[in-house]
Amino acid sequence: MDAATDIPGLTTTRAPFIESARSRGELFITQPYEQYSEANHQSWRNLYARMGDRWERYANHRFLEGLDSLGLNGERVPRLSEVNQFLAPLTGFEAKPVSGYVPAYLFFDCLGRREFPTTITIRDVNTPDYLPEPDIFHDIAGHVPMHTDPAFAETLVRFGQVAAGAVERLVELTDPDDLEERVASNMRAMARFFWFTIEFGLMGAPAATTTAKAGDLRVYGSGLLSSYGEIEHAVESDAVQRYPFQLEWVVNQGFRIDRYQPLLFVVESFDHLFDEVNRLEGWMREGRLDHVAPGEPVISDEEVRISLDAATAEK
Ligand SMILES: [Fe+2]
Repeated sequence: MDAATDIPGLTTTRAPFIESARSRGELFITQPYEQYSEANHQSWRNLYARMGDRWERYANHRFLEGLDSLGLNGERVPRLSEVNQFLAPLTGFEAKPVSGYVPAYLFFDCLGRREFPTTITIRDVNTPDYLPEPDIFHDIAGHVPMHTDPAFAETLVRFGQVAAGAVERLVELTDPDDLEERVASNMRAMARFFWFTIEFGLMGAPAATTTAKAGDLRVYGSGLLSSYGEIEHAVESDAVQRYPFQLEWVVNQGFRIDRYQPLLFVVESFDHLFDEVNRLEGWMREGRLDHVAPGEPVISDEEVRISLDAATAEK
C-alpha cells in the first residue's frame, strides 16, 4: 500500500488490479490511472530524468523527434489515452494496455494492425536498473517514440504481418510433417529477429561495428533506449561484439534476457531494416525458417498451441 494515499499501486509483480485481471483471463484491459501510487510516479520521474542525457548522446534522431511529438511528461506516469491522441494521427499506431505477457502470435498480429500491447505497471522505485519483465517505462519511453516515425511504423507493421503470416502459412499446409516443431521454429526465428532489431538494434555505417564509438553508432532498439546502463554499454564497451546485420546469423542466434547483450547487430538505415523484413518474409515463404537452430528463446508447447488456435480461428 502507498501509505500517503492508501491505494495499492501498479508496481511490477505487486499490482492486485493486474493479478485479478489475469485470474479472469483478461489480456486486454484498461489503464486504471487513479491506481498509480506516488511511489509509481516517483519511479517514472527518476527513470525519465536520468535518461535525458543518454538519449541525447546515443539515440537515433527519429526517437528524439518522437519524444518531442508525443509530448511525454517526465513528471507523471503517462496516460495511454493521451499518448494515443498524439500518436494515432502520425502513424495510426495505438498503445493498447495489457495485463502481462502476450502470446507471440497475438503480439505479432497486434503489430500488423498497428496496435502495440503495452504494459501498464512500473518497476519498483527502489530497483530502477534491472527488471526481467517489461514495464510501462520500457514500453512507452522505449518503444512508442519510435512508432511516431512513419517509416519505422511501416517496418513494424510489415514485420508483424510477416511474423503472424508465418503461423498462418503453416496452418494452411496440407498434412505437414512436424507442424508444431515448424511453428516453434518460425516463432523462434521471429523472436530472434525482433530481439536483435526492434529491441536491441544499432544503426551506423557498415564500418561502424567492432571499433565503433559514440557518434558512429546510434541506438534504435527499445531495450537499449529504456536502459540507463546498457545504452552506454552497447555503444561504448569493448565487451560487446557488433557486427553488420546478417539475417542468416540473426535467425539462428539465441539470446539471454537477463544480462547485458554481448552481441549486437548494426543496420545501415531504416530502409535497410525494411529490406531485411522483406527478406525475412521471402525466407519464411520458402520454408527456410522451418528448422532454425534450437535454443533460446524456448517456445513452449503451450505457446505453439495458442498460436495455432488463434491463427486457425482467424481463418
Ligand atoms: Fe520491448
